[in-house]
Amino acid sequence: MIAQRMSHMDSSGIRKIFDLAKNMKNPVNLSIGQPDFDVPSQIKNEAIHWIQKGFNQYTVTQGIPELREKLLEKLKRERGIEAEDILITSGVSGGIFLAFMALLNPGDEVIVPDPYFAMYKHLSHLMGASPVYIDTYPEFILTAEKISEKISKKTKLILINSPSNPTGVVTPQRELKKIVELAKKHHLVILSDEIYSEFSYDEPFQSIGRDYPLTLVLDGFSKTFAMTGWRLGFTAGPKEIIQAMTRLQQFSFVCAPSFAQKAALKALDCDMKGPIQEYRRKRDLIYEGLKEKFKLTRPGGAFYLFPQAPDPDGDVFVQKALEKNLLIIPGSVFSERKTHFRISFAAPNETLAKGIEILNQMV
Ligand SMILES: Cc1ncc(COP(=O)(O)O)c(C=O)c1O
Repeated sequence: MIAQRMSHMDSSGIRKIFDLAKNMKNPVNLSIGQPDFDVPSQIKNEAIHWIQKGFNQYTVTQGIPELREKLLEKLKRERGIEAEDILITSGVSGGIFLAFMALLNPGDEVIVPDPYFAMYKHLSHLMGASPVYIDTYPEFILTAEKISEKISKKTKLILINSPSNPTGVVTPQRELKKIVELAKKHHLVILSDEIYSEFSYDEPFQSIGRDYPLTLVLDGFSKTFAMTGWRLGFTAGPKEIIQAMTRLQQFSFVCAPSFAQKAALKALDCDMKGPIQEYRRKRDLIYEGLKEKFKLTRPGGAFYLFPQAPDPDGDVFVQKALEKNLLIIPGSVFSERKTHFRISFAAPNETLAKGIEILNQMV
């Protein structure tokens, strides 16, 4: 009954973990990919205000003009991006989905740095396209040289996710510049998933979109403002692609949530430096706590760590951690390898401390 295209979408790995987790009482949970702080109250009040006021209908497909303008202006001011057009999407996930639908033909190849955000793999398959993985182990640094070895006549799109989920690694500026040269030479589109841009701890965030007009810049409100359930993101880039995505949104998502778009205007005036500094301290806490006993790269951003498992099989190690009441995600969910595991440090410090203790005992 189910369509053929669904056959590639195997979520059994992560489902198994969450099935096991259901039976755990008060697990030390380092698996969650969303902030542990709540949406700031001024943003919540703004959303409530607009709901009460009756701003509950569909909005225009491309998103309310005042939010689109404000985001374009912010992208220019903060990241030096001069995007031709912008679409407000239902989360960055919605943007990725529409971008893939608008750009990929069956048989096209997509350059996917491995480890990757799992959606990239599954959606590539859904489009009938092939993910071509760039193995970035053990430092997780994406280089132009590694990409160039994998470019073929079928390559259409390069995915960049910096800071990265699941490694937290930031692609160095020198490599971004070389990747731009490569993309120019082969006339490739770059999709830059910048959802963790605000979570850059050691240096100001740099977008590849500044130097290459054929970049789709995707970002949103889920992580920075903890608005994961409000489903709000945006995609900025070349007019032709944004318009194709907008046509598709008209016949799929229709629009992003109305009240969330209004509240997002307020969010953009909200200073999140405090919570982000707090996350920087969490990064230091967990990295310092694990670096003696684990092989791991210090993350420059996001809120993840991707250590090598002491067992040769990361899935087995995660199972053992579950038995000790610690919930982490096997690396196989994010990679063609199964040697590592993902820790999210978006958790209270006492949970981090317990997690560090359990992990160190397991080595
Ligand atoms: C790299 C990356 N891109 C996109 C998303 C999706 O975010 P959104 O809630 O905006 O759909 C996530 C969420 O975990 C992510 O880690």
